[in-house]
Amino acid sequence: MAMAAPLFEVVNDPFEAPLIDLGRKVLEVQNLTKAYQQEKLVLDGISFELRAGEFVAVVGRSGAGKSTLLHTLNGTIPATSGHILNVHTDLTTDDVLSMNRKELRNWRTHCGMIFQDFCLVPRLDVISNVLLGRLSFTSTFKSLLKVFSDKDRAEAIELLKWLNMLPYALQRAENLSGGQQQRVAICRAMMQKPKILLADEPVASLDPKNTVRIMEALQKVASDGVGVMVNLHSIELVQQYCTRVIGLAKGRVIYDGHPSGLNEQILNQLYGDEIDQVS
Ligand SMILES: Nc1ncnc2c1ncn2[C@@H]1O[C@H](COP(=O)(O)OP(=O)(O)OP(=O)(O)O)[C@@H](O)[C@H]1O
Ligand SMILES: [Mg+2]
Repeated sequence: MAMAAPLFEVVNDPFEAPLIDLGRKVLEVQNLTKAYQQEKLVLDGISFELRAGEFVAVVGRSGAGKSTLLHTLNGTIPATSGHILNVHTDLTTDDVLSMNRKELRNWRTHCGMIFQDFCLVPRLDVISNVLLGRLSFTSTFKSLLKVFSDKDRAEAIELLKWLNMLPYALQRAENLSGGQQQRVAICRAMMQKPKILLADEPVASLDPKNTVRIMEALQKVASDGVGVMVNLHSIELVQQYCTRVIGLAKGRVIYDGHPSGLNEQILNQLYGDEIDQVS
């Protein structure tokens, strides 16, 4: 019996995307500061580099500036001073601090972010939510009509399959559990084919099983060549999954290195008397 022709060309690897050389510098942050109100610096001279393939945790006690850092990198919160350099393959750079609105919008497709409340469209089905990640590549006219190419749909399906969410493809996002919504949010971010992926406490509201799923998904994203940065509260998860950890205290970097180097003295500096709550 002849096989029915496939509806669309299925892409086996959702990450066939423009993969970046592992280890290539993708971001350079120099002396970054942020003050919401005059004088009080929430970020106080942060400098670091991010490389393709790294899975970096940002840790520190509540109020240390972790969310502020991720949002300034992505341009959703304007930084006060310093440089956030988008490093291109030819090593030329653009500074996020001097981007206009259009350039910022473009930057946010390269520097994807998964927000704490997922930011899915509640009444839209799962697959459409994932396809929204492609919008910046689609003409305004086509995106208004929600016209996506077969290749886009195939990629969205592969991504959903990858995170075991395909059975939910036609359900409304509002009917999903927190862990399921988080997985859809990751699929949507990956549709953007970002070179950097930021996530603000991606496992904060998840049970242990979903936590493992999300951490493994982010690990896979990183090993496929994306520079991944996540805010985490659990040192155990950092040690289990991340390749590097940046420790923040009062808006300053007090540790930047391999998770195995987080000794008692550094943990004390980071968390003080809250130390029992994070391990
Ligand atoms: N929009 C804002 N206006 C004024 N101050 C703010 C604003 N957002 C955050 N802050 C302050 O900046 C500091 C850092 O906040 P941030 O949310 O970055 O911390 P965090 O490390 O992410 O904390 P948590 O672990 O609780 O999420 C806090 O003192 C906070 O009160
Ligand atoms: Mg936060």
